[in-house]
Parts: sequence; structure tokens; C-alpha cells
Amino acid sequence: MSNLSVEHLLGIKYLKNSDIELIFETANHFKEVINRPIKKVPSLRDITIANLFFENSTRTKLSFELAEKRLSADVINFSASQSSVKKGETLIDTVNNILSMKVDIVVMRHPNVGAGIFLSKHVDAKIINAGDGTHEHPTQALLDTYSIKEKLGSVKGKKVVIVGDILHSRVALSNIYALQLQGAEVKVCGPTTLIPKYIKSLGVGVETNIKKALEWCDVANVLRVQNERMDVKYFPTTREYSQLFGISKQVLDQVGKDIVIMHPGPINRGVEITSDVADSDSSIILNQVENGVAIRMAVIYLLAEQIKR
Ligand code: CP
Repeated sequence: MSNLSVEHLLGIKYLKNSDIELIFETANHFKEVINRPIKKVPSLRDITIANLFFENSTRTKLSFELAEKRLSADVINFSASQSSVKKGETLIDTVNNILSMKVDIVVMRHPNVGAGIFLSKHVDAKIINAGDGTHEHPTQALLDTYSIKEKLGSVKGKKVVIVGDILHSRVALSNIYALQLQGAEVKVCGPTTLIPKYIKSLGVGVETNIKKALEWCDVANVLRVQNERMDVKYFPTTREYSQLFGISKQVLDQVGKDIVIMHPGPINRGVEITSDVADSDSSIILNQVENGVAIRMAVIYLLAEQIKR
């Protein structure tokens, strides 16, 4: 089997399309494994992985831990809120102390943009970025793109609109890179205040009318409004946001075509998406979560292949 062109998974920006293809092929194999009665392989019995979460997570944290256990790796978990970070310990000191316990791979979520890149230059371990501030969330984009391919047969030529708070979203940027590498056309749709000015330079279209965006697309990836990252008001009220940009059955009925509905979670039901859409047959939200385990198994397995053992 060939291997990844990168030594760490810091962002989709650093990957080639051949890396994505390799991750998807490997994930196909692991998806078959995790649907067997015995959902485990012994591949990483000699590998130790530390999951370092400096920001809250449900899906990513549990999915990485399950992926690691399915590969038979030894796993340690660290949550900043219950750690000596609260006593003033730095990121490098924290990680080097953890690495002294003979850790091979670090999975890290951190609120600061570039935290994974910084760590990869200062510590001797493979780094997987599980989300760095508003920058990148590479495994989310890989599982999203994989889920589109699974649902529609291919990503090439498909039209994908990313709806909502693009400005504060690491999912949006990683998705744009991954979808474009796979040959999709990408637009974003949301309030002008929540669309970064640089977005057009990435070859991404901008649409501020949700109905026009939905009429154009095959897939709508709906994002949460990240109130926790907002220090000023970006739109007048949540009600107005829902009326103008919320994805409801009523809006989809007006558009009148089949659209694959995605959401990375966590969902704010009734704000960016209504329950009758999130829980509908058009929604692949829980398939995304299921595919996350196979994708993360693939990424971890391929990076571990590069470690001399
Ligand atoms: N999609 C995602 O990153 O969810 P969590 O914040 O729960 O990990």
C-alpha cells in the first residue's frame, strides 16, 4: 500500500487528491471491519495515542477514541478543563510531559488557529488536528466528502453549498479544500457579515439568497451559528436569521428538488435547520457520524504506518 504525502494531518490544505483517495480506500476497508460482529483489528497494538482536547467536543472526541480502540491502540485522554493547564502549564510543557509516557500520536483540538502546526514543529510525535479555532477541521471534511461520495456515487461535478456561519467555521474551510480537490463546485450562503472577504479568492461562489442557493445545489452542508466565537452582533436576531437562512421543509418544498442535507453537528434545532429536515430521509447527518469512525481509523492507520516499529 502506498502512503500519505504528509507526516501529520494538520489541514486539508496540505493534502493532495491522491492522499484523499488513499484515505477513502482505507476507510472503505475499515467501514467493512466495523460492521462485523468483532469490530476490532490488531493493527496498532504497539501504538499509543493521546487525545488532547482543549475545547469541548462530543462527536470528534468519541469518534477518535473509538477509532483508536477499534485499531487496538493504547489510548489516553486529556481534557484541558481538568488538567494542570488550569495552573498555568504551557502547551509544549503539557505535551512533552505526555510524550515522556511514550506516546506516538497526538490528536489535538485547540481554540488557537495553527496550534497543531506549532506543535508539529516542537514535539516528536505524529500530530492530527481535531479542529484548531476557526481554521481547519480536516477529519470532518474528509468524513463529509466521503459521505457525499457514498450517497451520490462521486463528488466530481457535484454542486455543494455550505450554508451559515462561514466566518467562524473550521468545517467550511476544510470542506472547501477537500471538495475542490475531489472536483466539486462549491458555493457559500449566509449573511454577508458571516462570509469572509477572502472566500472568492478560493474559487468559491457567494450567494445570499437561500432559495437560489438551494435551487443550484445537489448537497447543502448546514453550519451552526457559533455564538461562542462572536464578540459583536453579526445579524439582528436569531428569529430573523432562521427566517432568511434556516433550512426548513417549507423552504425545501418551495425549491422542489432532492437535495442531500448534511450538518457536522452540534445542531441548533429550529435555528439553522428544523427537525423535519434534520430527521428526514434527505438527511445524512447520522451517516456522517458513522463514517467518521472509519475515516479516523484510516487516518490514524496511515500515519502509524510511517512510524518505525
Ligand atoms: N463536528 C464536530 O466537530 O462536533 P464536536 O464539536 O462535537 O466534536
